[in-house]
Amino acid sequence: MKKIVILFSGNGTNLQNIAKKLHNKSLIIAKAITNNPKAKGIERAKRFGIDVEVIDHTKFISREEFDKALVAAIKEVEPDLVVLAGFMRILTPVFAQTITNAINIHPSLLPLFKGAKAIERSFTSDMRVAGVTVHWVSKELDSGKIIEQACFHREDESLEEFEAKIHALEYEIYPKVITKLLFDEK
Ligand code: GAR
Repeated sequence: MKKIVILFSGNGTNLQNIAKKLHNKSLIIAKAITNNPKAKGIERAKRFGIDVEVIDHTKFISREEFDKALVAAIKEVEPDLVVLAGFMRILTPVFAQTITNAINIHPSLLPLFKGAKAIERSFTSDMRVAGVTVHWVSKELDSGKIIEQACFHREDESLEEFEAKIHALEYEIYPKVITKLLFDEK
């Protein structure tokens, strides 16, 4: 069975969605790693019997030292794919140089609205479409090669409705992309 590792920092609803659709079915989530000891996602992961490792970034003297610990924790499992799902730490080249099979989901149509608060910035822009992007993790923030995108045409949504549409797209495409990457013949 193929193995993945999921990295998350907060709510963990993408982790939960991937677990519900794929864990112990087509693949195993061998480990979930968070930098945040208070992340709500910890409880969500445990409900699926997934091992959770907390690597608290505040205990490290630099981003590089944190990334070294993160890389070591990932390598213990030797996953087929590393899946970033709401992982809110900026990674250093230490990560991308060693982990070359990591993907990320970002709540905007990249290359627009890279970085933090992408949903709010996309919402307040005058763009008539909005969406989400799955991309390979590279040395540059939110800049690796794009794997898949999905979008919707904007109505007069409130921020809450807009956010709900973004998350619905994430829940739809992320499991599909993971499955495709792991199981489709090249
Ligand atoms: C998701 O919307 C994800 O796209 C975003 O954080 C949210 C995490 O939600 N990620 C980024 O902004 C990464 N730059 P979740 O913890 O409920 O899955």
